[in-house]
Amino acid sequence: MASSSPSVLVTRRLPSSVLGILRNACEVDVNGSTDELTPEALCERLPGKQGLLCMFNDPIDAGTLAVGDALKVISTVAVGYDNIDVVAATERGIVVTNTPNILTGATAELTWALILAVTRRVGEGDRIIRRDNWHGWTFDFLLGGELRGKQLGVVGAGRIGQAVAAVAPAFGMEAVFANRSGTAAKGQRVLSLDELLRTSDVVSLHVPLTDDTRYLIGRRTLPRMKRSAILINTSRGGVVDDEALAWALEERLIAGAGLDVYEGEPRVHPGFLDRENVCLTPHLGSATRETRTAMAELAARNVVEVLAGRPPLTPVT
Ligand code: DGY
Repeated sequence: MASSSPSVLVTRRLPSSVLGILRNACEVDVNGSTDELTPEALCERLPGKQGLLCMFNDPIDAGTLAVGDALKVISTVAVGYDNIDVVAATERGIVVTNTPNILTGATAELTWALILAVTRRVGEGDRIIRRDNWHGWTFDFLLGGELRGKQLGVVGAGRIGQAVAAVAPAFGMEAVFANRSGTAAKGQRVLSLDELLRTSDVVSLHVPLTDDTRYLIGRRTLPRMKRSAILINTSRGGVVDDEALAWALEERLIAGAGLDVYEGEPRVHPGFLDRENVCLTPHLGSATRETRTAMAELAARNVVEVLAGRPPLTPVT
């Protein structure tokens, strides 16, 4: 590799196919661990690097950017980029890229896994068997609710929200949307958030975390949901006020929740842990082999394109 090759910091161990894309064009400094770099370690390794390939849970704030004196591109292996100070990066002339589209199907699948797990009490049943507490089939044991004829309220009408809604008819559900712009695709019913919460049997969140969506679901909005409804969050921790959700579950203001994302991950609010009507997964939305590899490959290509002076494939703005 010629010494004039640009140099890239990769914050996590990644498949060799991904590192190969980078190594063909750049010098690569990889954190060989699956654990994140501490902010100190990140700042130690960043100076002089033209590219940064990071994950959604690497905080890239103004302080980090000040250390990244040579940065030209920050490429995150995620669709969400709330961890990056995009305004500060843009001011410094740094291109920020993400990996949209690729994870839409995987995230929609996990959303439905949670919807089904909560309504049909899958986690509860699994725990009963593992604890040797199942004493045989009985007529009214562990009855769940049925999806047919119910309303799915999708908050956010972007790619993932649309992919989740597309499955609803297969379960006999009608999907409705609440969207900041007040519009969705042709023929789709769009409600105000209040009306969606008031009328939906399943409420599923598909918005990015921004100043506008932080605590979109909290003490004010949770009591508007039906007591028989469930809440699903596969979007971002912070879109739901976890403390308020724990309170709403305790007060039985809603019937249950399926959660993949949490405020302050990997910490999970203790109020969720002993609730049978809550299904918890550890941020698995995009976690399929196919999707994660494709996301990382796209992120690597974005780095290579920008460092070669070409436009990125998927810039964030
Ligand atoms: C994303 O892409 O934003 C996910 O949360 C991480 O896969």
